[in-house]
Amino acid sequence: MRLFWSQFSTLCSRTVFTAATAAAVALLCQLVPTTAVSAQPGSTRVAPVATTDGVYTSMQARAGGDVYAGLCQSCHSAESHTGAPFRNNWVGKPLSALYSYISSEMPKTEPGSLTEEEYTLVLAYILRMNGMPAGRKALTADSAALDAITIVLPGTANKQ
Ligand code: HEC
Repeated sequence: MRLFWSQFSTLCSRTVFTAATAAAVALLCQLVPTTAVSAQPGSTRVAPVATTDGVYTSMQARAGGDVYAGLCQSCHSAESHTGAPFRNNWVGKPLSALYSYISSEMPKTEPGSLTEEEYTLVLAYILRMNGMPAGRKALTADSAALDAITIVLPGTANKQ
């Protein structure tokens, strides 16, 4: 991991990127100091992406809203999953961390009681709550895929 980052810093300090990789590299460079991202040894290779890249479908978020209303809303409001609490708990982490938390700890009274599919839908709904855009690719519960997605809030990728 350390080697990975040092190579990465070298890459960040170079000034010439191809146009195609520049945006992705800029985004990753911005994440370097704060994240423990993606490249898990042993996981299948998946191109790293961010939650701002359209990692769930709008159908999933809609269905997730129904699951949430039925099984989560009795204890939660949108405020507990957005703004400062969300930033402090989740931004910069792999999406697998949020998925694991929800699927192993929630609902508080009956942890683990939803199906993988339902947890995935609720996760899509939480991403939408945070203004992350829907895309064409459906979110799955696959841990290698979730590991490769970094939680990034929209509009923050190029600030620093
Ligand atoms: C019976 C009440 C209850 C239900 C139902 C419940 N939660 Fe929670 N949830 C809590 C409490 C309390 C916490 C604070 C952490 C703790 O005490 O474990 C929490 C924390 C969380 C967190 C971490 C804090 C955050 O927002 O970043 C997430 C995410 C979360 N819940 C998601 C869900 C989801 C998704 C569902 C529905 C599948 C759900 N919860 C259902 C009570 C509940």
